[in-house]
Amino acid sequence: MFWGRGLNEVALRMIPVEISFVTKSYGDLKAVNGVSFSVNEGEVFALLGPNGAGKTTLIEIMEGLRKRDEGDVKVLGLDPWENGYALHSKIGVIPQGFTFFEKANPREAIKYYADLFGVSVDPDDTLKEVLLEDSAGVLFENLSSGQKQKMGLALSLVNFPELLFLDEPTTGLDPNARRAIWDVIRGLKNKDKTVILTTHYLDEAQQLSDRVAIMNHGNIVAMGTSDEIIEAYGSGERLEIHGTEELASYVRANTDLKVEYKGKGLIGIALNRKIDALTALAAVEQSGLDWGEIHTRRDSLDDVFVKLVRGPMDAQGEIKAENNGVNSTDRRRR
Ligand SMILES: Nc1ncnc2c1ncn2[C@@H]1O[C@H](COP(=O)(O)OP(=O)(O)O)[C@@H](O)[C@H]1O
Ligand SMILES: [Mg+2]
Repeated sequence: MFWGRGLNEVALRMIPVEISFVTKSYGDLKAVNGVSFSVNEGEVFALLGPNGAGKTTLIEIMEGLRKRDEGDVKVLGLDPWENGYALHSKIGVIPQGFTFFEKANPREAIKYYADLFGVSVDPDDTLKEVLLEDSAGVLFENLSSGQKQKMGLALSLVNFPELLFLDEPTTGLDPNARRAIWDVIRGLKNKDKTVILTTHYLDEAQQLSDRVAIMNHGNIVAMGTSDEIIEAYGSGERLEIHGTEELASYVRANTDLKVEYKGKGLIGIALNRKIDALTALAAVEQSGLDWGEIHTRRDSLDDVFVKLVRGPMDAQGEIKAENNGVNSTDRRRR
């Protein structure tokens, strides 16, 4: 019966990725330090973190390319290390720093991969899917960085995978090329593919993913939608007023509000309730002191990220050390 079949299909829907308490050390270094999460069908899940956080190690454990020390890993119902061969025909992968034979063009590369997988594909269809149809015959060495990544995406799609692992798909690309890759990933999501990507770009994680796991030193330090992470780890809403330290002191002395003078003529007032804004403004007005622009503000994912990983990150994914004299190049990728 149809209704029965429908129910069975629902019951049989698999959780594509489930990992629990996964660890991996290189000598004394705990690269992955007890990580657990699951990724649902059709979800785009971002592992976000600075260089050295353990993203590649973790993603390669899920792909069956590295052996975990401890923990359970199920990818499409398989243990990736024990059943790597079966798994590899079902997943799509772009390794970090993807590259290919210089003298091959995208159309040839796709044919080559299709032969490897024993599948038949129309290279032009695949190239269309990654918005690379115009460069089907251009040698790899003559493709732009963004086009090279698109070719990597095309290759990851050759075996029609439901689940894709993209390790830093946009690192080093200019903003336009990055956005073009985002369009491709959004297209994959629209086709209900499940995507796990790693990135050190916050905007990328925020723009593309349904959920984000922030990784640092082998641990997941926060996980959820961007909004959930901001809600859990960010400071609540606050009123910001341009004014002097004297004004800040006045408001502090004449209300019960938490008032902070942030320097450079900026005052921050915590709003536990919306109505606190009225109390604050009444006190400001009453002070007779000068004040300027006002607005309310909430922590962004950037603000929360800086708190969680204890420092802002530069465009290369390095954490800028917080005056502790440690040069962040110590953690440079190998
Ligand atoms: N094969 C390896 N041997 C020794 N150390 C490694 C190896 N691969 C990665 N590491 C170290 O493990 C940590 C995590 O690396 P990685 O997983 O590449 O992080 P990410 O992808 O987040 O930059 C880093 O400190 C890195 O230097
Ligand atoms: Mg990496």
